[in-house]
Parts: sequence; structure tokens; C-alpha cells
Amino acid sequence: METMILHGSPRKNQNSDTLVDYFIRGMNANGDKEVKEVKHFYTNELNIKPCQGCLTCATSVNHSCAIKDDMEEIYSAYKKADTIVFATPMYWGYMTAQLKTVIDRMEALAWEGFENKTFVVIITYRHHCESTVAFFERIAPFFNIKLFVITCCTYDEDEEKDIPIIACQDQLQEAYQLGIDLGNREKEKN
Ligand SMILES: Cc1cc2nc3c(=O)[nH]c(=O)nc-3n(C[C@H](O)[C@H](O)[C@H](O)COP(=O)(O)O)c2cc1C
Repeated sequence: METMILHGSPRKNQNSDTLVDYFIRGMNANGDKEVKEVKHFYTNELNIKPCQGCLTCATSVNHSCAIKDDMEEIYSAYKKADTIVFATPMYWGYMTAQLKTVIDRMEALAWEGFENKTFVVIITYRHHCESTVAFFERIAPFFNIKLFVITCCTYDEDEEKDIPIIACQDQLQEAYQLGIDLGNREKEKN
């Protein structure tokens, strides 16, 4: 099985990345072999141009994108992956621009091969995350995607300060347990 992680935060190893880490640890928790392959893409570090809306992908051979950049590696990993993890903090009411840029470019996959995957969406936020949850909930049935969403508020409204992610134990355990559940499901398949 292959799992692809799209890290949307520019802050490496912080809130959303820590939840991803617990998810992966869960996947590898109770097996004799590790999840075959986990591919991490730190979107902030990649050279990915925004979609130009040319729709070359609609008509080109294999629906390939006209832009040649780091998305090519993501296209190839997506096609091989069973599970795709989208991890992002909320920025001004939505996922980060880095992750949205990748999703826009996924137009080239939407013609063929986008469907029948498992999506794990991990969102960290201070006040609201509904818009990004709603986006994934809307596309999932259309593409026959099994969707799992973990949301984690990293802010204490009363104290008016951020909560360290390690104090968000319920959500970290939720991520870990989801990893175990999906890991077991895949092992049963093999
Ligand atoms: C530029 C910026 C914009 C943000 N906008 C929002 C927002 O609109 N809604 C919200 O709930 N949190 C917002 N936050 C808070 C982050 O989503 C939150 O701190 C998150 O846990 C950070 O996750 P990370 O450590 O993975 O980057 C914003 C943070 C930054 C830096």
C-alpha cells in the first residue's frame, strides 16, 4: 500500500505535521511490516506554479498538464497511492495557499484516476475550519472517495492563546487510531 502526504503548512513539524506523525505511527503500530511506502510532499518547499486554466489537461494524451514542475512527482505518487493525506492549518478561513495550489493543479487528475481513493484530511485551526471540511465533503461522494476528517482546534478562547499541539491529546489519539484502523484494513486486503 502506498500513502501520500501533502503537508500544507509552511511550519514544518508543528501542529498539522504532528497529527500526521501520529497517524503514520498508528498505521505502523501493530503490524509485522511497516506501511510499504509513505511519500511526504512539503508543498511549501516545492516549485509548483498555479493552474493557468488552459485546460490542456482536458484534451492532452493521458490528460497531462501543460506545466512541467514538481507537480509531476505528485501526479505520479497520487496515481500509485491508496491513501492521500491532506494536512493543513486554516489560513484566513481556508486551507493554505500552498495546498490549494496543489489541489487546483489536480484538475489534470480529475479527468481520470482521481476517484476511488481514501482521503484523510487533517485540519488545525484557531476559530473555524468548516469551509475546508465542506469542500472535501462535497467532492468525496462525486469521486467515490472514502473520507476521514480530523479537525483540531489549537487555540484556547478563554485564555486567548495557542495550545501546544501535544496538549491536544484527544485529536492526537484520534489520528493514531485512524492510522491503526486504516493500516489494519490495508493489511487485510494484502
Ligand atoms: C497567516 C495565518 C492565518 C491564519 N488564519 C486562520 C483562520 O482564518 N482561521 C483559524 O481558525 N486559524 C487561523 N490561523 C491559525 C492556524 O490555522 C493555527 O495556528 C494552526 O494550528 C497552525 O497549524 P500549523 O502549526 O500546522 O501551521 C492562521 C494562522 C496564520 C499564521
